[in-house]
Amino acid sequence: MTIPKDKLPRKNNLYFPTTDFKKKAWLKNTNIYKEAKKNPIRFWGKAAKELFWSRKWEKTFSHNPPYFHWFSGGKINITENALDRNLKERKNKVALIWEPEPFEEKERIFTYYQLFREVNRFANALKKLGVKKGDRVGIYLPMIPEIIISMLACARIGAIHAVVFSAFSSQALKVRLQDTQAKVLITADGYFRRGKVINLKQNADAALMGEPRHGREGIKETKVEKIIVVKRADNEVAWQENRDYWWNDLVKNEKNWCKPVEMESEDIQFILYTSGSTGKPKGIVHVCGGYTVQAYLTTKWIFDLKEDDIFWSTADIGWITGHTYSCYGPLLNGATFLIFEGSPDWPTPDRWCQIIEKYGVTIFYTAPTAIRMFAKQLGKIEKKFKFDTLRIIASVGEPIDESAWQWYFQEVGKEKCPLLDTWWQTETGGILITSLPGIGPFKAVFAGLPFPALKVDILDDTKRSLSAGRQGNLVILPPFAPGMLRGIYKNQEKYVETYWSQYGNKIYFTSDGAFKDKKGLIRIVGRVDDVIKVAGHRISTGELENAISRDKKVSECAVVGIPDEIKGEVPLTFVVLATGLKAGEEMKKEIIEDVRREIGPIALPKKVYFVKDLPKTRSAKIMRRILKRLWTKEELGDLSTLANPESVEDIKKIIQT
Ligand code: WTA
Repeated sequence: MTIPKDKLPRKNNLYFPTTDFKKKAWLKNTNIYKEAKKNPIRFWGKAAKELFWSRKWEKTFSHNPPYFHWFSGGKINITENALDRNLKERKNKVALIWEPEPFEEKERIFTYYQLFREVNRFANALKKLGVKKGDRVGIYLPMIPEIIISMLACARIGAIHAVVFSAFSSQALKVRLQDTQAKVLITADGYFRRGKVINLKQNADAALMGEPRHGREGIKETKVEKIIVVKRADNEVAWQENRDYWWNDLVKNEKNWCKPVEMESEDIQFILYTSGSTGKPKGIVHVCGGYTVQAYLTTKWIFDLKEDDIFWSTADIGWITGHTYSCYGPLLNGATFLIFEGSPDWPTPDRWCQIIEKYGVTIFYTAPTAIRMFAKQLGKIEKKFKFDTLRIIASVGEPIDESAWQWYFQEVGKEKCPLLDTWWQTETGGILITSLPGIGPFKAVFAGLPFPALKVDILDDTKRSLSAGRQGNLVILPPFAPGMLRGIYKNQEKYVETYWSQYGNKIYFTSDGAFKDKKGLIRIVGRVDDVIKVAGHRISTGELENAISRDKKVSECAVVGIPDEIKGEVPLTFVVLATGLKAGEEMKKEIIEDVRREIGPIALPKKVYFVKDLPKTRSAKIMRRILKRLWTKEELGDLSTLANPESVEDIKKIIQT
């Protein structure tokens, strides 16, 4: 039975929570901002005290720019907080619901005790394979419960997980395995995607070996010695004795208890790769203490989690949203959450609506791309989907546009649910800017206020703080937030250069453009670097260019992101072929294949243009800005600095035809 809800009260273009919502919310008024502002460090210290530490920290925050630490001297294990701590009062409460893609298959449900048991058994199995504290473990799994069990099992024994999104190609997996030097990889035989079985093991196998096209066939190219395989789709897979192990065989005789390793607060919790301005993905490093505290508190307050909530975040666990809000955050709060194997619009466009109704989802978290797709496919939501269990809806990953916001608010939230537009990054570990559901206000296309205790600013290029309405660069000021990155794995230079150079080593540069309104609510405009968001997936144009340039038939190429009605942005590719080669459909297919093989199907170019020359400055820098504007038909600006202005006219003609 659900209690009927009122529509959200509205003042001008702002919405506020209802009195009833406020009454029950963790946070109801703006005092929290004032209190946190007085002493941000004490604020986070207080939050940390709500968790279990096997040794209390000595120093809450220390800063040696550009490095900073939280809770130094403390010892903690995230799984003791996510699992053991819940056994007392929530042993038989549902922790995880897994909805498989095939309709005919039954869901799997894990209580807190069952999840605890599976994690411990698998942790013991990992130990037997020789995995120790500090070792890196690659996880290349689809959206099945074992991805969560794997992450937690690693955390239990102090191993560092590096999850690689299952739709990334074997080449992308290889690059990440090489960087982490993981000795163990966890994968599955296959999984279901839009009714088809994807053979994941085949990709995993290929990642470990050199390819014929690079002249390295059969050569071992990573340090992986053991592959653990979850049987999911029962498809046929190649097998290498003494390297490959079935998950079930490993856990069969394991004990239900594995002692958690006490981790130093600043020990690495996990590495997650993401895209930056350059062609190589960066391994973002998160640490045990700060990440745990921030994941715990942001999940609790932003999603206002209560005992009877059912929280569904649709993001894949291969991305940061999945790490924090489809694994650690809900478990740290003893909540019930849902993960779904398939695509939300398969086999029918309303599959996601059915899932909300089936489980009585109360909190729904998704991305603008999904919202735009739902709006386009369904238009008005059928009356049979009442969504009357929903109480909070939220969005993440890319700027949301006015019409997607309104559709989501009206059709899904029925004007009765706070709509949270949450801004954050792989680097920040958890949500850092959003309106809070019991406080508001909710304003279309504005993320809202910084999380309590967080200091941000919007600066121009000369480091001047900008007033309301003026767009500049979003930055984060000390003491930052405990869950923010501590580095780029094995590349501290890049860490300093990317985040701490633009405005000096005490100001974190987000690479996002933003402005605020008169009330201080923040609107995120989008990236100011070469990162693009394709259907919410973070990709760098440099990575795409690398993928294409590796093809010997390509002499040069440039990739730019252009606006797309559904996916937000899509890549557009300009290719100069090697001398003597002819452009044509075959060649186009080959370029697209290059991207599929090197990165995966998520980043395929919308169009491939073959051009004679790319516009360049006299110092041979490719002017991507001009390429983008040629497509969007914006003013091109000053072309006098170009070494080859004639290339612009040529490309214009090619785009027009
Ligand atoms: C963008 C995703 C507008 C932004 C959690 C950021 C957003 C990048 C929002 C990080 C939002 C994320 N509104 N833009 N609510 N949330 N972004 O690392 O450009 O995959 O820098 O983390 O996504 O992407 P990432």
